[in-house]
Amino acid sequence: MGAISTTQGRQSKLLGLGVHRPERVVTNDEICEFIDSSDEWIQTRSGIKNRRFTEPRQNVVYMSIEAGKKALEASGVAADQIDTVIVATSTHLEQTPQAAAKVAHALGTNGPAAFDIGAGCAGFCYALTVASDLVKAGTAKYVLVIGAEQLSETTDPYDRTTRFIFADGAGAVVVGQSDETEIGPAVWGSDGSQADAIYQTIDWYDYIKTEGAERPWIRMNGISVFRWAAFEMGKAAQKVLDVAGIKADELHAFVPHQANSRITELLAKSLNLNEETPVANDIAETGNTSAASIPLAMEELLRTGKAKPGDTALLLAFGAGLSYAGQVVRLPKL
Ligand code: UT7
Repeated sequence: MGAISTTQGRQSKLLGLGVHRPERVVTNDEICEFIDSSDEWIQTRSGIKNRRFTEPRQNVVYMSIEAGKKALEASGVAADQIDTVIVATSTHLEQTPQAAAKVAHALGTNGPAAFDIGAGCAGFCYALTVASDLVKAGTAKYVLVIGAEQLSETTDPYDRTTRFIFADGAGAVVVGQSDETEIGPAVWGSDGSQADAIYQTIDWYDYIKTEGAERPWIRMNGISVFRWAAFEMGKAAQKVLDVAGIKADELHAFVPHQANSRITELLAKSLNLNEETPVANDIAETGNTSAASIPLAMEELLRTGKAKPGDTALLLAFGAGLSYAGQVVRLPKL
Protein backbone atom coordinates (compact mmCIF):
# COMPACT_ATOMS: atom_id res chain seq x y z
CA MET A 1 0.00 0.00 0.00
CA GLY A 2 1.36 3.46 -0.91
CA ALA A 3 2.24 5.72 1.99
CA ILE A 4 0.41 9.02 2.29
CA SER A 5 2.95 11.70 1.47
CA THR A 6 4.37 13.39 4.52
CA THR A 7 4.83 17.08 5.14
CA GLN A 8 7.13 16.56 8.10
CA GLY A 9 9.59 19.37 8.63
CA ARG A 10 7.65 21.96 6.64
CA GLN A 11 7.39 25.28 8.48
CA SER A 12 5.51 28.53 7.91
CA LYS A 13 6.26 32.24 7.79
CA LEU A 14 4.72 35.68 7.30
CA LEU A 15 5.59 36.82 3.77
CA GLY A 16 4.01 40.27 3.63
CA LEU A 17 1.70 42.68 5.43
CA GLY A 18 -0.83 45.24 4.20
CA VAL A 19 -3.38 47.40 6.00
CA HIS A 20 -6.33 49.63 5.33
CA ARG A 21 -6.88 52.64 7.56
CA PRO A 22 -10.15 54.46 6.76
CA GLU A 23 -9.69 58.10 5.76
CA ARG A 24 -12.00 59.71 8.30
CA VAL A 25 -10.24 60.63 11.54
CA VAL A 26 -12.67 60.91 14.46
CA THR A 27 -11.47 62.90 17.48
CA ASN A 28 -12.42 62.33 21.10
CA ASP A 29 -14.27 65.65 21.00
CA GLU A 30 -16.44 64.37 18.15
CA ILE A 31 -17.26 61.19 20.13
CA CYS A 32 -18.11 63.37 23.16
CA GLU A 33 -20.81 65.19 21.19
CA PHE A 34 -22.91 62.07 21.86
CA ILE A 35 -21.64 60.68 25.18
CA ASP A 36 -21.06 62.23 28.59
CA SER A 37 -17.26 62.06 28.59
CA SER A 38 -14.19 64.16 27.79
CA ASP A 39 -11.05 64.07 25.70
CA GLU A 40 -9.03 64.01 28.91
CA TRP A 41 -10.95 61.05 30.41
CA ILE A 42 -10.68 59.01 27.21
CA GLN A 43 -6.94 59.67 26.82
CA THR A 44 -6.18 58.93 30.47
CA ARG A 45 -8.30 55.78 30.75
CA SER A 46 -7.66 54.23 27.34
CA GLY A 47 -4.72 55.99 25.66
CA ILE A 48 -6.90 56.87 22.66
CA LYS A 49 -6.54 60.30 21.02
CA ASN A 50 -8.15 59.63 17.66
CA ARG A 51 -9.68 56.71 15.82
CA ARG A 52 -10.84 56.11 12.26
CA PHE A 53 -14.39 55.43 11.13
CA THR A 54 -15.09 54.16 7.64
CA GLU A 55 -17.97 55.26 5.38
CA PRO A 56 -20.99 53.00 6.00
CA ARG A 57 -20.71 51.11 2.67
CA GLN A 58 -16.93 50.73 2.97
CA ASN A 59 -17.57 47.68 5.07
CA VAL A 60 -15.58 44.64 6.21
CA VAL A 61 -15.48 43.21 2.68
CA TYR A 62 -14.28 46.53 1.22
CA MET A 63 -11.59 47.07 3.86
CA SER A 64 -10.45 43.42 3.59
CA ILE A 65 -9.97 43.77 -0.17
CA GLU A 66 -7.93 46.95 0.29
CA ALA A 67 -5.70 45.40 2.97
CA GLY A 68 -5.50 42.12 1.04
CA LYS A 69 -4.23 43.84 -2.14
CA LYS A 70 -1.40 45.48 -0.19
CA ALA A 71 -0.47 42.23 1.58
CA LEU A 72 -0.22 40.46 -1.79
CA GLU A 73 2.01 43.24 -3.16
CA ALA A 74 4.26 43.18 -0.09
CA SER A 75 4.62 39.40 -0.19
CA GLY A 76 5.27 39.13 -3.94
CA VAL A 77 2.68 36.36 -4.13
CA ALA A 78 0.26 36.54 -7.07
CA ALA A 79 -3.47 36.45 -6.34
CA ASP A 80 -3.89 33.17 -8.22
CA GLN A 81 -1.29 31.48 -5.99
CA ILE A 82 -3.46 32.06 -2.90
CA ASP A 83 -5.22 28.80 -2.07
CA THR A 84 -6.91 29.85 1.19
CA VAL A 85 -8.47 33.09 2.40
CA ILE A 86 -9.47 33.56 6.04
CA VAL A 87 -11.22 36.68 7.33
CA ALA A 88 -11.35 37.20 11.09
CA THR A 89 -14.20 39.55 11.99
CA SER A 90 -17.17 40.13 14.28
CA THR A 91 -18.67 42.92 12.19
CA HIS A 92 -19.41 41.40 8.78
CA LEU A 93 -23.05 42.46 8.90
CA GLU A 94 -24.21 40.05 6.22
CA GLN A 95 -24.58 36.61 7.76
CA THR A 96 -24.48 34.82 4.40
CA PRO A 97 -22.29 34.50 2.43
CA GLN A 98 -19.06 34.68 4.41
CA ALA A 99 -16.87 37.73 3.75
CA ALA A 100 -13.86 35.65 2.70
CA ALA A 101 -15.46 34.29 -0.49
CA LYS A 102 -16.31 37.78 -1.77
CA VAL A 103 -12.88 39.10 -0.81
CA ALA A 104 -11.14 36.18 -2.54
CA HIS A 105 -13.12 36.75 -5.73
CA ALA A 106 -12.53 40.51 -5.78
CA LEU A 107 -8.78 39.98 -5.39
CA GLY A 108 -8.65 37.81 -8.54
CA THR A 109 -7.83 34.54 -6.81
CA ASN A 110 -8.56 31.21 -8.43
CA GLY A 111 -11.29 29.57 -6.33
CA PRO A 112 -9.44 29.20 -3.02
CA ALA A 113 -10.89 27.82 0.23
CA ALA A 114 -12.51 30.85 1.86
CA PHE A 115 -14.02 31.17 5.31
CA ASP A 116 -14.52 33.58 8.23
CA ILE A 117 -13.43 33.16 11.83
CA GLY A 118 -15.18 34.78 14.79
CA ALA A 119 -13.12 34.98 17.97
CA GLY A 120 -13.67 38.63 18.90
CA CYS A 121 -10.51 40.66 19.30
CA ALA A 122 -8.49 37.42 19.35
CA GLY A 123 -9.71 36.66 15.80
CA PHE A 124 -6.55 37.57 13.89
CA CYS A 125 -4.28 35.39 16.04
CA TYR A 126 -6.80 32.53 15.80
CA ALA A 127 -6.83 32.86 12.01
CA LEU A 128 -3.03 33.02 11.92
CA THR A 129 -2.85 29.83 13.98
CA VAL A 130 -5.12 28.01 11.54
CA ALA A 131 -3.24 29.39 8.52
CA SER A 132 0.17 28.42 9.87
CA ASP A 133 -0.98 24.89 10.66
CA LEU A 134 -2.65 24.51 7.23
CA VAL A 135 0.66 25.42 5.59
CA LYS A 136 2.67 23.09 7.85
CA ALA A 137 0.26 20.24 7.15
CA GLY A 138 0.55 20.75 3.40
CA THR A 139 -3.15 21.53 3.00
CA ALA A 140 -2.34 25.08 1.87
CA LYS A 141 0.63 26.75 0.25
CA TYR A 142 -0.27 30.43 0.48
CA VAL A 143 -2.91 31.67 2.91
CA LEU A 144 -4.23 35.22 2.98
CA VAL A 145 -5.18 36.02 6.58
CA ILE A 146 -7.21 39.18 7.19
CA GLY A 147 -8.53 40.86 10.33
CA ALA A 148 -11.20 43.47 9.55
CA GLU A 149 -13.76 45.33 11.63
CA GLN A 150 -16.39 48.03 11.19
CA LEU A 151 -17.23 48.69 14.83
CA SER A 152 -18.56 52.17 14.05
CA GLU A 153 -21.72 50.38 12.85
CA THR A 154 -22.13 48.03 15.85
CA THR A 155 -21.41 50.43 18.71
CA ASP A 156 -24.21 52.71 19.91
CA PRO A 157 -23.17 56.36 19.40
CA TYR A 158 -24.83 57.16 22.75
CA ASP A 159 -23.18 54.36 24.77
CA ARG A 160 -20.28 55.66 26.78
CA THR A 161 -18.98 52.17 27.67
CA THR A 162 -18.06 51.30 24.06
CA ARG A 163 -18.30 54.24 21.66
CA PHE A 164 -14.99 55.91 22.54
CA ILE A 165 -12.95 52.72 22.43
CA PHE A 166 -13.88 50.75 19.31
CA ALA A 167 -13.01 51.71 15.72
CA ASP A 168 -12.63 50.54 12.11
CA GLY A 169 -9.80 49.15 10.00
CA ALA A 170 -8.26 46.08 8.41
CA GLY A 171 -4.91 44.32 8.23
CA ALA A 172 -3.76 41.32 6.20
CA VAL A 173 -0.79 38.98 5.95
CA VAL A 174 0.22 36.26 3.51
CA VAL A 175 1.39 33.05 5.20
CA GLY A 176 3.59 30.71 3.16
CA GLN A 177 6.05 27.83 3.47
CA SER A 178 9.43 28.13 5.09
CA ASP A 179 12.43 25.95 5.88
CA GLU A 180 12.81 27.55 9.29
CA THR A 181 10.19 28.12 11.98
CA GLU A 182 9.09 31.75 11.61
CA ILE A 183 5.67 31.32 13.23
CA GLY A 184 5.89 29.62 16.62
CA PRO A 185 3.27 27.32 18.17
CA ALA A 186 0.13 29.09 19.32
CA VAL A 187 -1.19 29.28 22.85
CA TRP A 188 -4.93 29.83 22.76
CA GLY A 189 -8.08 29.31 24.77
CA SER A 190 -11.36 30.72 26.00
CA ASP A 191 -13.46 31.29 29.13
CA GLY A 192 -17.12 31.08 28.17
CA SER A 193 -18.17 31.66 31.78
CA GLN A 194 -17.40 35.32 30.98
CA ALA A 195 -19.38 35.37 27.74
CA ASP A 196 -21.40 38.33 29.00
CA ALA A 197 -18.33 40.55 29.48
CA ILE A 198 -18.54 41.60 25.79
CA TYR A 199 -21.92 40.86 24.25
CA GLN A 200 -24.68 41.79 21.81
CA THR A 201 -27.65 43.52 23.46
CA ILE A 202 -30.25 41.34 21.69
CA ASP A 203 -29.78 38.35 19.40
CA TRP A 204 -31.22 38.43 15.90
CA TYR A 205 -33.96 35.92 16.78
CA ASP A 206 -35.35 37.99 19.66
CA TYR A 207 -34.95 41.17 17.65
CA ILE A 208 -36.99 39.78 14.77
CA LYS A 209 -39.67 38.32 17.06
CA THR A 210 -40.02 41.37 19.37
CA GLU A 211 -42.07 44.23 18.03
CA GLY A 212 -40.43 47.61 18.60
CA ALA A 213 -37.18 46.10 19.86
CA GLU A 214 -34.08 48.26 19.51
CA ARG A 215 -31.54 46.96 17.03
CA PRO A 216 -28.58 44.99 18.42
CA TRP A 217 -25.52 46.83 19.70
CA ILE A 218 -22.27 45.59 21.18
CA ARG A 219 -21.81 46.24 24.91
CA MET A 220 -18.87 45.67 27.23
CA ASN A 221 -18.34 45.30 30.95
CA GLY A 222 -15.00 47.08 30.65
CA ILE A 223 -13.72 46.50 34.15
CA SER A 224 -14.29 42.69 34.00
CA VAL A 225 -12.41 42.49 30.73
CA PHE A 226 -9.70 44.78 32.06
CA ARG A 227 -9.13 42.59 35.16
CA TRP A 228 -9.09 39.36 33.15
CA ALA A 229 -6.71 40.82 30.55
CA ALA A 230 -4.34 42.33 33.09
CA PHE A 231 -4.01 39.10 35.14
CA GLU A 232 -4.62 36.18 32.79
CA MET A 233 -2.96 37.59 29.68
CA GLY A 234 0.35 38.09 31.46
CA LYS A 235 0.41 34.34 32.12
CA ALA A 236 -0.69 33.57 28.56
CA ALA A 237 2.09 35.78 27.16
CA GLN A 238 4.69 33.91 29.21
CA LYS A 239 3.31 30.57 27.93
CA VAL A 240 3.61 31.78 24.34
CA LEU A 241 7.29 32.58 24.95
CA ASP A 242 7.85 29.22 26.68
CA VAL A 243 6.40 27.14 23.83
CA ALA A 244 8.48 29.13 21.34
CA GLY A 245 11.64 28.66 23.44
CA ILE A 246 12.23 32.44 23.47
CA LYS A 247 13.15 34.53 26.49
CA ALA A 248 11.48 37.93 26.97
CA ASP A 249 14.83 39.71 26.64
CA GLU A 250 15.38 38.06 23.24
CA LEU A 251 12.26 39.68 21.79
CA HIS A 252 12.67 42.53 19.31
CA ALA A 253 9.06 43.70 19.72
CA PHE A 254 5.84 43.10 21.65
CA VAL A 255 2.58 43.47 19.73
CA PRO A 256 -0.36 43.09 22.11
CA HIS A 257 -3.98 43.59 21.08
CA GLN A 258 -4.61 47.32 21.18
CA ALA A 259 -7.36 47.15 23.81
CA ASN A 260 -6.25 49.87 26.18
CA SER A 261 -2.77 51.40 26.63
CA ARG A 262 -2.99 50.74 30.39
CA ILE A 263 -3.45 46.99 29.75
CA THR A 264 -0.50 47.11 27.33
CA GLU A 265 1.68 48.74 30.00
CA LEU A 266 0.72 46.14 32.62
CA LEU A 267 1.44 43.26 30.24
CA ALA A 268 4.78 44.72 29.15
CA LYS A 269 5.77 45.14 32.81
CA SER A 270 4.75 41.58 33.72
CA LEU A 271 6.94 40.22 30.90
CA ASN A 272 10.06 42.05 32.11
CA LEU A 273 10.94 43.16 28.59
CA ASN A 274 14.20 44.98 27.92
CA GLU A 275 13.55 48.68 28.40
CA GLU A 276 14.40 49.43 24.77
CA THR A 277 12.14 46.70 23.33
CA PRO A 278 9.45 48.48 21.30
CA VAL A 279 5.87 47.85 22.41
CA ALA A 280 3.15 48.61 19.86
CA ASN A 281 1.04 51.63 20.78
CA ASP A 282 -1.13 52.02 17.72
CA ILE A 283 -4.23 52.56 19.87
CA ALA A 284 -3.48 56.28 20.31
CA GLU A 285 -4.34 57.09 16.69
CA THR A 286 -6.36 54.00 15.73
CA GLY A 287 -8.53 53.04 18.71
CA ASN A 288 -9.39 49.43 19.43
CA THR A 289 -10.08 47.72 16.09
CA SER A 290 -10.70 44.28 17.57
CA ALA A 291 -9.63 41.56 15.08
CA ALA A 292 -7.78 44.14 12.96
CA SER A 293 -5.66 45.53 15.76
CA ILE A 294 -2.68 43.13 15.68
CA PRO A 295 -1.84 43.56 11.95
CA LEU A 296 -2.47 47.32 12.20
CA ALA A 297 -0.13 47.51 15.20
CA MET A 298 2.54 45.44 13.40
CA GLU A 299 2.29 47.87 10.48
CA GLU A 300 2.72 50.87 12.76
CA LEU A 301 5.92 49.40 14.24
CA LEU A 302 7.34 48.59 10.80
CA ARG A 303 6.28 51.85 9.11
CA THR A 304 7.82 53.99 11.83
CA GLY A 305 11.03 51.94 11.85
CA LYS A 306 10.62 50.93 15.50
CA ALA A 307 10.87 47.32 14.30
CA LYS A 308 12.02 45.77 11.04
CA PRO A 309 11.11 42.75 8.90
CA GLY A 310 12.65 39.58 10.35
CA ASP A 311 12.49 40.86 13.94
CA THR A 312 11.16 38.40 16.53
CA ALA A 313 7.83 39.65 17.91
CA LEU A 314 5.34 38.36 20.44
CA LEU A 315 1.74 38.69 19.24
CA LEU A 316 -1.01 38.40 21.85
CA ALA A 317 -4.71 39.02 21.21
CA PHE A 318 -7.69 38.78 23.59
CA GLY A 319 -11.31 39.78 23.82
CA ALA A 320 -14.92 38.59 23.41
CA GLY A 321 -15.64 35.03 24.40
CA LEU A 322 -13.67 35.70 26.46
CA SER A 323 -10.96 34.23 24.25
CA TYR A 324 -7.29 34.70 23.52
CA ALA A 325 -4.47 33.53 21.23
CA GLY A 326 -0.82 34.36 20.76
CA GLN A 327 2.33 33.28 18.99
CA VAL A 328 5.92 34.40 18.44
CA VAL A 329 6.60 35.37 14.82
CA ARG A 330 9.25 36.93 12.65
CA LEU A 331 7.80 40.20 11.37
CA PRO A 332 6.93 40.36 7.66
CA LYS A 333 7.73 42.90 4.94
CA LEU A 334 5.44 45.87 4.31
O1 UT7 B 1 -10.89 44.65 22.85
C1 UT7 B 1 -11.60 43.71 23.59
C2 UT7 B 1 -11.14 43.68 24.96
N1 UT7 B 1 -11.51 44.93 25.59
C3 UT7 B 1 -10.74 45.41 26.55
O2 UT7 B 1 -9.72 44.85 26.85
C4 UT7 B 1 -11.22 46.66 27.27
C5 UT7 B 1 -10.94 46.53 28.72
N2 UT7 B 1 -11.49 47.60 29.52
C6 UT7 B 1 -11.07 48.88 29.45
O3 UT7 B 1 -10.27 49.22 28.63
C7 UT7 B 1 -11.58 49.84 30.51
O4 UT7 B 1 -12.38 49.15 31.43
C8 UT7 B 1 -12.40 51.04 29.92
C9 UT7 B 1 -11.46 51.98 29.17
C10 UT7 B 1 -13.46 50.53 28.97
C11 UT7 B 1 -13.06 51.83 31.03
O5 UT7 B 1 -12.07 52.30 31.93
P1 UT7 B 1 -12.18 52.03 33.50
O6 UT7 B 1 -11.05 52.71 34.13
O7 UT7 B 1 -12.32 50.56 33.70
O8 UT7 B 1 -13.53 52.77 33.87
P2 UT7 B 1 -14.73 52.22 34.75
O9 UT7 B 1 -15.70 51.49 33.90
O10 UT7 B 1 -14.19 51.55 35.99
O11 UT7 B 1 -15.39 53.59 35.21
C12 UT7 B 1 -14.68 54.51 36.06
C13 UT7 B 1 -15.52 55.75 36.19
C14 UT7 B 1 -16.96 55.48 36.61
O12 UT7 B 1 -17.39 56.57 37.40
P3 UT7 B 1 -17.42 56.47 39.00
O13 UT7 B 1 -18.32 55.32 39.30
O14 UT7 B 1 -15.99 56.22 39.42
O15 UT7 B 1 -17.95 57.80 39.42
C15 UT7 B 1 -17.72 55.49 35.31
O16 UT7 B 1 -19.06 55.85 35.48
O17 UT7 B 1 -15.60 56.43 34.94
C16 UT7 B 1 -16.97 56.54 34.55
N3 UT7 B 1 -17.05 56.36 33.10
C17 UT7 B 1 -16.81 57.33 32.23
N4 UT7 B 1 -16.53 58.63 32.41
C18 UT7 B 1 -16.34 59.38 31.31
C19 UT7 B 1 -17.27 55.20 32.42
N5 UT7 B 1 -17.21 55.44 31.10
C20 UT7 B 1 -16.93 56.73 30.95
C21 UT7 B 1 -16.71 57.57 29.85
N6 UT7 B 1 -16.42 58.87 30.07
N7 UT7 B 1 -16.79 57.10 28.59
